[in-house]
Amino acid sequence: MTSTAQGESWRPLRSRRNLVVLAVLVVLGYISITQLRSRSGLAKTYLGGSAAGKRPLTIIRPEGPVWRFNATLDRNNHALTQAQCDASFPQLYHEIERSQKYWKSKQGKKPITKEQIDLKWSNDGGMMGMIYDQQLYITFSRGLNHFGHWKERSHATLHQIHRAILASPEPVPNIEFAIKINDVIGLTPDDPTVTIWAFSRDINDPIMDRVWIIPDFNFWSYPRVSGAYGDFQQQALSQSSDSYTAKQDLLVWRGTLAFNREIREPLLAQSDSQPWSDVKEVVEDSATDNRISMPDHCRYKYSVHTEGTTWSGRLKYLLSCHQVVFIHHLNWYTHLYHLLVPSGPHQNYVQTQDDWSDLPAKITDLVSNPAKGKKIADNAAQEFRDRYLTPAAQTCYWRRLFHVWREMSFEAEPWEYSDARDGSRQRKVRGMSYEEYV
Ligand SMILES: *[C@@H]1O[C@H](CO)[C@@H](O)[C@H](O)[C@H]1NC(C)=O
Repeated sequence: MTSTAQGESWRPLRSRRNLVVLAVLVVLGYISITQLRSRSGLAKTYLGGSAAGKRPLTIIRPEGPVWRFNATLDRNNHALTQAQCDASFPQLYHEIERSQKYWKSKQGKKPITKEQIDLKWSNDGGMMGMIYDQQLYITFSRGLNHFGHWKERSHATLHQIHRAILASPEPVPNIEFAIKINDVIGLTPDDPTVTIWAFSRDINDPIMDRVWIIPDFNFWSYPRVSGAYGDFQQQALSQSSDSYTAKQDLLVWRGTLAFNREIREPLLAQSDSQPWSDVKEVVEDSATDNRISMPDHCRYKYSVHTEGTTWSGRLKYLLSCHQVVFIHHLNWYTHLYHLLVPSGPHQNYVQTQDDWSDLPAKITDLVSNPAKGKKIADNAAQEFRDRYLTPAAQTCYWRRLFHVWREMSFEAEPWEYSDARDGSRQRKVRGMSYEEYV
């Protein structure tokens, strides 16, 4: 009985298996037909995701209407081609080009070597990574477990790199690179051949010319301050509803005096008891908690940006708020600060003195000339929120850096060898895979 039952129960199973095999064959056949068709250039489209739904994006469109970046549709599109990136963000690569020029003049035709990025000069916040065959590896780290924030920064950076690789419609090159994720990276004049990827550079310090700037960790997320950056932009958009005039006629700033007192104290002094001021110090563990959320900063027409220990991550949020941002003279530049325009028809922020002595007059001027303020806010929203600060732009930047770095640096040796038990040699890719590391 048991054998008969088994025999009978096999028959439907086998026919079900045949069905599955048939279904797989049909799907495979369909895929190879569509592949063939797309290779013949008839259907070179894919789906680009966006908040507004899905729409087919043409990757290469030799004829027909020109593809244009549309922030509503493409803000979070990490899968733009190099050609689309270049067309969308013509001024994005300024810092990469600056570093490239600098190192070309130093190295001539010699590639940057592994010794130049080996992190021996640094004990804090350093890691080395490698892209090999479209996979990300962490090949070395030095001083990354200093405290919890370092982990957030290094992981957020690796996630961004990984996203740029995964979403790329074109292959990214094999490279090995080094990154410092701390604020003061500590480059010294001792070894002028040392170079590094970092979040910002002091534009008044020639030693920092050696740096290659990368998008900072907030472009992934900012734990305890803001979530994913793309989500912040959506919050800012939904809240402002593009209505500058509906915002409060007040200047907002929240911050601690624990960093950069020289800049922050005069700000408090100049705005003290002014009718236009909502400038307040945040004191840790104090009874009066002046904190407001990052999206709530967007409810004001005017805001202030101040540097911290080095660069401050805050500016990417304020420039997404559709408001007028007042900024002192910045020493620390990120990869996008060359786009700040202080005057003229494309003015997108207001430049102030470092002691804020001109702040009251400049605010009063905008309060009595609402159209002037609106124009500056509109420019900032258009240039930054809807173009150079989009997540899509950051991914384009990363991929351009991968390519330029490949052009400029050594060819990474991917393998490490060991002896197996039976005495044979075996090899694996060096370091630890991204998947295992994070
Ligand atoms: C961008 O896309 C949105 C949503 O489809 C559309 O309403 C808008 O007109 C587009 N903007 C431009 C400049 O094409």
